[in-house]
Amino acid sequence: MSQIELQKKIEDHSARLAVIGLGYVGLPVAALFAQRGFNVTGVDVKAERVDRINQGISPIEGDEPGLSELIAGVVKSCKLHATTDYDELKDVDVVLVDVETPVNHAHIPEYEALRAALKSLSAVLKEGALVVIESTIMPGTMQNVVLPILEKNTERKVGQGFYLGNCPERVMPGKLLKNLNSMSRVVGGDSPDTAAAMRALYGNIVAADLDTADWITAELVKTVENTYRDVQIAFANETAMICEALGADVWRVRELVRKSPGREMLLPGAGVGGHCIPKDPWLLASSVKGLDVRVRLIPAARDINSFMPSHMLDLLKGRIKDLNGKRILLLGYAYLEDSDDTRDAPSQYFIKALEAEGGQAVVHDPYVAEFAGDLYEKAKDCDAAVLITAHSQYKSLDFAKLKAALKTPVLVDGRNLWDKMEVSKAGLDLVRLGDFSM
Ligand SMILES: NC(=O)c1ccc[n+]([C@@H]2O[C@H](COP(=O)([O-])OP(=O)(O)OC[C@H]3O[C@@H](n4cnc5c(N)ncnc54)[C@H](O)[C@@H]3O)[C@@H](O)[C@H]2O)c1
Repeated sequence: MSQIELQKKIEDHSARLAVIGLGYVGLPVAALFAQRGFNVTGVDVKAERVDRINQGISPIEGDEPGLSELIAGVVKSCKLHATTDYDELKDVDVVLVDVETPVNHAHIPEYEALRAALKSLSAVLKEGALVVIESTIMPGTMQNVVLPILEKNTERKVGQGFYLGNCPERVMPGKLLKNLNSMSRVVGGDSPDTAAAMRALYGNIVAADLDTADWITAELVKTVENTYRDVQIAFANETAMICEALGADVWRVRELVRKSPGREMLLPGAGVGGHCIPKDPWLLASSVKGLDVRVRLIPAARDINSFMPSHMLDLLKGRIKDLNGKRILLLGYAYLEDSDDTRDAPSQYFIKALEAEGGQAVVHDPYVAEFAGDLYEKAKDCDAAVLITAHSQYKSLDFAKLKAALKTPVLVDGRNLWDKMEVSKAGLDLVRLGDFSM
């Protein structure tokens, strides 16, 4: 298939699509293209996930506006079908790859899932198909990892036997469909023609700019934007700890700083998590390993943000010195408000630090099945409560009921969720991250 034929098929919607990796990113992407009239095959290695999707049920549990209805609709209309079998990709014209891309303990990506997906794909890839990597990758990965695997295993050359692009995703849990529709994307192709085909494709689901670029630029944009966020959050967190030491209130300081033009200070908090912010800065930093660059700011920011769960424990210890044998109610296990995504969540690091002091966490999270249940029942026999994740339902807690259940009336707020006066009126001692003001 020539590039002209491919583009024509994309434009008239006769192109068959596949999405490899039906997680937080791949599933909504697959469903949206299906809704736009393409026949989409989704592939995942998790059979249970595939079965659920084929029943029209979204496996994503958090508050994800529109996603359940969308999946039910496109499965019913047979536009989206999921499978574990790569053989079903033999006739596919466009393949989007959305598998996870974690880093190891040395902060280096090993690409176990990406390599496996590309090898399985190579065995069935149609002549002239377009492969687009949407996963977040270390700058240089398209050239040094993806291209060699595909060329070696298909025994074809890029630009002749297949086309190759990088179009990083900008979604986030809780806003998956909204971000997919409304956020601009960078489309990096192996040639201007490939980029043009990608623009034609993504124009079906993205109502925003589609900026063409080469691979390295596309890879850099994605990892830089998330690193920028991590660094900015680290600054807010460090400022919060400075404010505590000086007996001030970071939330008021931030409010006033933001009155100065261009000083958009981000929110401090109990820690960052998920499959992006804690790992993407390492993808960027690792890209220059062995080259003549001293990367100092990125690891420093990672260090500050990774420290925040321990800092939350320090705030608790400011009220309860000896945590040995104490039971602490943890509000929120997922890393993000109103989401079920628990990957790399700060709560997990808080629990480890608490257990190292001999304490025990009693976890509540309405979005994580294992930890759902009645919050006030869980609070009984707990010594204090700590908020890690600002789920909406925590905003309107019954503070009097919580106080009655807790052995000590201590509530630590890692997200500035509550009004100090309201909480203290109920007789609870509120310890707010970043605020040691009187
Ligand atoms: N989660 C986010 O908010 C977000 C946002 C932007 C970009 N990203 C990036 O998108 C990529 C995917 O993230 P995610 O959150 O969707 O991950 P995820 O873990 O939710 O989904 C990945 C899916 O890929 C499947 N998979 C793994 N190996 C496979 C293989 N060989 N063949 C088929 N399926 C396979 C997994 O079973 C899983 O269901 C990552 O690179 C991430 O950094 C994520």
